[in-house]
Amino acid sequence: MTIQAQAPGHELPGKPTSVSRITLSRIMTAGDTNLLGTVHGGVIMKLVDDAAGAVAGRHSGGPAVTASMDEMVFLEPVRVGDLVHVKAQVNWTGRTSMEVGVRVMAERWNESTPATRVASAYLVFTAVDESGRPRPVPPVIPETERDERRRQEAQIRRTHRLARRRAIKELRDRRTAEGMLDD
Ligand SMILES: CC(C)(COP(=O)(O)OP(=O)(O)OC[C@H]1O[C@@H](n2cnc3c(N)ncnc32)[C@H](O)[C@@H]1OP(=O)(O)O)[C@@H](O)C(=O)NCCC(=O)NCCS
Repeated sequence: MTIQAQAPGHELPGKPTSVSRITLSRIMTAGDTNLLGTVHGGVIMKLVDDAAGAVAGRHSGGPAVTASMDEMVFLEPVRVGDLVHVKAQVNWTGRTSMEVGVRVMAERWNESTPATRVASAYLVFTAVDESGRPRPVPPVIPETERDERRRQEAQIRRTHRLARRRAIKELRDRRTAEGMLDD
């Protein structure tokens, strides 16, 4: 594997993935449930956003805002009494944005059974300055083959996000030019 410490166009020195990787853990309680009695998806989404935000802030060395959250997948219901671990790391960096990958694991709080994967998500954070304007981020340096695979997969998602945004914008511009007005 080739480790690139400084990607072309970057002025900042690179930071290894492990420098900002974190795990956020919390026990689910009765206040976290939905009407079905399992944990509300929004509770998990908030933990995911919190963990990813901490990673983005650590990697970029300052404030970073959530620009998008995609591929949030819920694989198994989470229950009251589950100890939830939210593991997050920077997968990819652009000029001012970062993709953070998050994996959510759950285990019973009082049992020593292995944790199972219950959700995962990919979020894009943009580093911002005091005025809220995008600011450059250090390139992430993958340290393992798994980090490198995640970087390559994140690049594919980035390409698709940009292509989708562009296609939708072109469609809207064309409809507007043709005089089709939305209500
Ligand atoms: C995210 C934000 C800073 C982007 O500002 P902008 O003026 O559109 O900036 P740009 O178009 O120059 O984009 C800056 C970077 O963010 C990325 N970005 C912007 N919008 C994005 C989106 N919807 N999805 C993925 N990436 C996005 C761009 O690709 C770019 O990355 P790069 O520099 O690595 O290539 C701005 O839209 C914002 O402040 N949004 C609100 C964020 C917020 O408040 N989040 C919390 C919600 S409660």
